[in-house]
Amino acid sequence: MVNVGVMGTGYVGLVHGAVLSSYGFRVTCMDVDKQKIERLNQGISPIYEPGLEELLQSGLRAGNLVFTASAQQVVQTSDVLFIAVGTPAKEDGSADLSYVWDVVQQIGKHINGHKVIVSKSTMPVGTSRSIAMYLDGMLRGTPYRAHVASNPEFLRQGKAVSDSLSPSRVVIGAESDEAVQMLKKVYATHLEQDVPFLFTNRETAEMIKYASNSFLAVKISFINELALLSEKVGAKIQDIATGMGMDDRISPHFLQAGPGYGGSCFPKDTQAIVDVGRKNGEELYVVRAAIAANEKQKAKMVSKIEETLSFDGTLKGRTVAVWGLTFKPDTDDIRYSPSYEIIQGLLGRGAAVKVYCPQGMKQAKLYWTDLNGRIQYCGSEAECSQQADAIVLMTEWEQFRAANWEKIARGMRGNAFFDMRNMFAGDASVLQWFKYYPVGASEYGYPLREAQ
Ligand code: UDX
Repeated sequence: MVNVGVMGTGYVGLVHGAVLSSYGFRVTCMDVDKQKIERLNQGISPIYEPGLEELLQSGLRAGNLVFTASAQQVVQTSDVLFIAVGTPAKEDGSADLSYVWDVVQQIGKHINGHKVIVSKSTMPVGTSRSIAMYLDGMLRGTPYRAHVASNPEFLRQGKAVSDSLSPSRVVIGAESDEAVQMLKKVYATHLEQDVPFLFTNRETAEMIKYASNSFLAVKISFINELALLSEKVGAKIQDIATGMGMDDRISPHFLQAGPGYGGSCFPKDTQAIVDVGRKNGEELYVVRAAIAANEKQKAKMVSKIEETLSFDGTLKGRTVAVWGLTFKPDTDDIRYSPSYEIIQGLLGRGAAVKVYCPQGMKQAKLYWTDLNGRIQYCGSEAECSQQADAIVLMTEWEQFRAANWEKIARGMRGNAFFDMRNMFAGDASVLQWFKYYPVGASEYGYPLREAQ
């Protein structure tokens, strides 16, 4: 049986390790954060991700999932080591690889046999080859070899466990038989399940990850720009997306207009691929336009609220209830969430802002420290809307569907409802109580789809 090591217990590493332990591998996960390791050993997940905590606890109970803060332990007990540390964006948009290199040095220092090293984090093209060259240099004069492969992760937050159990594809960039054979063993379950596999070189695997995320970001920015235009010309964006999606060359996915994309991947990866392009003398105009359109989208959402609610060109005296702080539902992650910029924009125009989010408030209080004391955190969507002039729904949490609309509407001072996700488009039970402002429909208050 293969012994698996995972270095870095963020979204990618933790989910990957937990899922591999559920396949029966002996998995050791390492992180430099000792407190996190202590909690993980008690079966407590540091992130909210459906199904993850159960998987961690069953791995711990079965004894084949181990958490450690020791790099030596993870390196020496594993045949294959997945590098899953963060690669955050630097000020200039390039990826910060310092955590990756810390881990690579630890591997070189503690290596005690032949190992397969796998880049699982999103890394700029060429990084896996540089890691291989670096380790070759470090291992010169020893009997050991490091076979470096790139195996990017495509999981979505909120669906991370199910995406890992049944991935859309497995991409392996490997240039040695040892690495290919090892990864075939690790992914034996997926091979049996007929998950599509792509074997290629390391640079291509690295590029596939950036290319996929950038393409999805382009798709979202494209539909968001058309949503803005639709509002002006009397068209309905949801029907446009449906009509476009009927062509399987386009597909209906990722054509949901909204307040702009956020999260730990799209904003960072689009910037990083533009940076890689520049360093190689290629301007990536299409991706740059997607980034610019995303910024425009967030600003436009604030202007739309302002134009509708303003007194004398400002929002002074207005109270806005923001529903949803996370960049998408079923996660507690608020990184690059459009909610942040929309709240900033509203505060900047003088509005009082109340917020509620089913999972994101703890993180928001911790990381959006500049907002502390300037916004009011509430315990429910109903409390958040009390005496508000408008609701701004930013994240499409399912629980919002169960809201008591009559009670909420009666408790408000105004009746504007900005639905940034078109979650209640055409829903008569909501529309009867509010003046409804969807994204990408020309006539405000006009249902996108006729009520049933
Ligand atoms: C993304 C990729 O989907 C995943 O394959 C990759 O591994 C990591 O990055 P994630 O960041 O979890 O996953 O979220 P995703 O569901 O892709 O959504 C990203 C952002 O785009 C969210 O803010 C979401 O609200 C927005 N979005 C998505 C839209 O505005 N419209 C859409 O149609 C789809």
